Amino acid sequence: MLQTIQIISKEIEAFSSKDAKAIESFRIKMLGKNGIITDMFEQFRAVDPAQKKELGKPLNDLKQLAQQKIQALLEQLSENPESTDTDVDYSLPGIPAPLGSRHPISIINKQILDIFSSIGFGVAEGPEVEDDWHNFTALNFPENHPARDMQDTFFVNEGQLALRTHTSSVQIRVMEKHAPPLRVLAPGRVYRNEAISARAHCQFHQVEGFYVDKQVSFADLKQTLMFFAEKMFGEKTRIRLRPSYFPFTEPSAEMDVSCMFCEQKGCNICKHSGWVEILGCGMIDPAVLNNCGIDPEEYSGFAFGMGVERIAMLKYGVNDLRLFFENDLRVLQQFTFA
Ligand code: DAH
Repeated sequence: MLQTIQIISKEIEAFSSKDAKAIESFRIKMLGKNGIITDMFEQFRAVDPAQKKELGKPLNDLKQLAQQKIQALLEQLSENPESTDTDVDYSLPGIPAPLGSRHPISIINKQILDIFSSIGFGVAEGPEVEDDWHNFTALNFPENHPARDMQDTFFVNEGQLALRTHTSSVQIRVMEKHAPPLRVLAPGRVYRNEAISARAHCQFHQVEGFYVDKQVSFADLKQTLMFFAEKMFGEKTRIRLRPSYFPFTEPSAEMDVSCMFCEQKGCNICKHSGWVEILGCGMIDPAVLNNCGIDPEEYSGFAFGMGVERIAMLKYGVNDLRLFFENDLRVLQQFTFA
């Protein structure tokens, strides 16, 4: 047995490792339940008393040697954790992280903001849960007026709070707080109680824009929108304004752009008219300016509002609005950073 002790102590002295797993296997091999040293202690119990005297100390020393060795190796490891047997080679190329892409609605939203900010428009935001005043009354929708039915509303609390039906509400919030001149864009999510189809959704995005200053005219509106249309859909784009009705603008119009799919030859998208509608606009009604404490005798303004999904559908040739909200990677992966 003495000879075995010597052999094992040599093995312990020779052992070295910088790998936690290897150290642990070594510990189990020596001191584990069925380990070599544990086993020797079992055998020791059976030897006769005279031999016990002779073997006791060397056996205990062997156990201590193993314990100290393992302890020392573990300490070395914790002081210098990165130097393991499986050292990382930092010169190897990294594992590439999958790169996402911007959502098409975010891309178009940003393009709209960039175009208008290049001509001096700033950005404002307002709450999605809006009160009756900002969403309707101040925008010249009188109580019980049928114009309120133009937009099916999700009420949070009938008559007081609703999910905003348009970002025109932000017009009011900005004009109440700030004095003209104002050149502001208000992007955001809006909600309408509509059946979901290829062309309508109960939740979508709008960008509202308005300009209030002395002597702002309809010609300014037209020129601004023309600039936008050319930047958004290409220099050859033409625009036309059709008379329309919105309670908060007078006169009001809807703007069409020349069909980008058929160059006005006639196609399904433009229903063979050569034109596609992209936004509503008009001169801000003096009553609205009054509601916000701006004197309509001194100031005038124009406003416009567009649906971001609509512009995205036209720009990307997407024919079903729902595709934007389903988060299907096969769809989203087709749009790259812009
Ligand atoms: N708020 C309108 C809507 O949601 C869009 C709109 C039309 C905004 C005309 C305007 C405007 O500022 O002048 O349908």
